[in-house]
Amino acid sequence: MTSPFTVAGLTKTYGSNVVVDQLDLEIEEGEFLVLLGPSGCGKTTTLRCLAGLETPQGGSIAFKDHLVFDGRTRRNVPPHKRNIGMVFQSYALWPHMTVRDNIRYPLKVRKRKQAIAEGAVEAAAETVDCGALLDRYPAQLSGGQQQRVAVARGLVAQPDLVLFDEPLSNLDARLRDQVRLQIHQLHQRLGFTAVFVTHDQAEALALGDRLAIMKSGKIEQYDVPEQVFENPISEYVAAFIGMGNRLELHRGHDGWSTSAGDALDLTHAVVRDAADRTTSAVARLRPDDVSLHRSIEEVPSGNVALHAELITYEYGGRHFDVTVKTGTEQLALRADAAEHGSALRASASGAEVVVSFSPASLRVFAADGAAHAQEPTAPPATVGGHA
Ligand SMILES: Nc1ncnc2c1ncn2[C@@H]1O[C@H](COP(=O)(O)OP(=O)(O)OP(=O)(O)O)[C@@H](O)[C@H]1O
Ligand SMILES: [Mg+2]
Repeated sequence: MTSPFTVAGLTKTYGSNVVVDQLDLEIEEGEFLVLLGPSGCGKTTTLRCLAGLETPQGGSIAFKDHLVFDGRTRRNVPPHKRNIGMVFQSYALWPHMTVRDNIRYPLKVRKRKQAIAEGAVEAAAETVDCGALLDRYPAQLSGGQQQRVAVARGLVAQPDLVLFDEPLSNLDARLRDQVRLQIHQLHQRLGFTAVFVTHDQAEALALGDRLAIMKSGKIEQYDVPEQVFENPISEYVAAFIGMGNRLELHRGHDGWSTSAGDALDLTHAVVRDAADRTTSAVARLRPDDVSLHRSIEEVPSGNVALHAELITYEYGGRHFDVTVKTGTEQLALRADAAEHGSALRASASGAEVVVSFSPASLRVFAADGAAHAQEPTAPPATVGGHA
């Protein structure tokens, strides 16, 4: 049985630039799918193809047994007949219309007079706490209020599919959390089907029923958040989902070692691709999985200990974000503020430290020179800090 929302072999090119490349996607009814990927990988273009705002060169898009695009027959249902709601990064409210008229617009174009008469506009405004703002104009609203109105407008016509294109990225951190929570609660209550684009991994993990990690117009991994988080299928996905630390590994006669020459037993690590058959590989691990120690005696048994040089640290409240250097590579880690704060503040850049991690926290991939070109979630290298 096919999913209610099926995208198959979708291809969109601009000149010789293939922006969406044979993309397949199956979305279940009521599912909240998060499309995650770096700038330029084709996220917005994919959404615009789903909405009918772009004409793909090939492939097909079906919503609930209704073929809305088919490259072979050139069938292409126009946007207003696809029953889709859209929420954009830039709010995109009509400045000359009141909040009421903005929210009413999708009902008006669908000629849903009865819904309007029954108070659908007011009800949608209430769901996003904007019931008191109906007679204002967008210029009289804060950014967070404008975006909540845009969410109400996206949902008011009870569309089959709601497309969100980075709707939170223009909001400051506190508002972003608020509106994110509101979208999450609305989804739980109303059960609409959504495709939500972001390049923020925290947003993706919090909202997604499933995550699609996109790379150069294709889906690299499509799975539930826990699987993507724990078992990234490639170094690209690992880097994108918070494994900002990268260690180059080499295999000699005595087994694997780091670039600094420290031996590394990979028996308990998660080794992917053909990494177990090559002589060079790349290990990824999260800053959260690296510990700081004052001396080698403190390293828990079973952990890999590395001698390192303190580069920088930043106070983060209960923790410090610390950067150290081991061999030619830098590692980011989180150190408990109560345990390490005073020692860190007394240390100068270049001080010797010991770091360790459990080999089970490593994800090892075959070395791929291109895989670490983009690391949006990687911690800062040497900027900031006080060391
Ligand atoms: N109308 C267009 N004409 C030509 N090239 C385009 C057009 N729209 C997008 N592109 C190109 O297609 C690629 C993908 O663009 P898209 O907007 O889908 O990326 P994105 O993943 O949404 O990125 P971001 O995270 O920066 O929003 C980019 O290289 C972009 O320059
Ligand atoms: Mg975009």
